[in-house]
Amino acid sequence: MCVIKTSLRYNSNSDQLADAFIQGAKESGNSVEEISLKDKNIAFCKGCLACLKSGECVIRDDANSITEQIKQADVIVWATPIYYYEKSGQMKVMIDRANSLYETDYQFRDVYLLSTAAENEDGVDHRAINGLKGWVACYPKSHFVGSVFAGGVDESNTIKDHPALKKAYEIGKAIQ
Ligand SMILES: Cc1cc2nc3c(=O)[nH]c(=O)nc-3n(C[C@H](O)[C@H](O)[C@H](O)COP(=O)(O)O)c2cc1C
Repeated sequence: MCVIKTSLRYNSNSDQLADAFIQGAKESGNSVEEISLKDKNIAFCKGCLACLKSGECVIRDDANSITEQIKQADVIVWATPIYYYEKSGQMKVMIDRANSLYETDYQFRDVYLLSTAAENEDGVDHRAINGLKGWVACYPKSHFVGSVFAGGVDESNTIKDHPALKKAYEIGKAIQ
């Protein structure tokens, strides 16, 4: 399992939601690789598509090794703050930079989304879910399995005691 935390904020709410998922997954014996995009150097995709011929991105930065970790994991968990009713820009850039995986023998099958936002309304995460489903649709051996949303958390470190933490923990724990 590979968990990718995409918030760049310290004491991030979505990081803590991911930590709850990870705790559950580890308690069930899963091996979990954690990646945080904090302090990573990841350039925008240039759209050259050289990766489809060579199998790797021509840009050399931290995205290359993260792409390899995504390729080898069986389960991918993306954790993101909601920015303008969508996933974070940094999550999107990482997805684009992993384009070399297209039509490769990628191993990931189950994909989850964890997200946090200031608003606590139904549907705040819907565009982020749909966006991630677009990525999954391009990798037909994979499936979007589920999501956990924590609304009503804006300042950092305010997710403590949120019911979504338990939900994330339980979904993580249910993975065998
Ligand atoms: C650029 C930006 C855009 C945001 N857009 C939204 C939004 O559309 N809806 C919302 O409810 N919260 C929005 N927020 C608030 C964050 O989603 C919220 O603070 C979240 O808990 C941050 O998660 P993190 O601590 O993991 O970074 C936005 C925050 C930023 C910085």
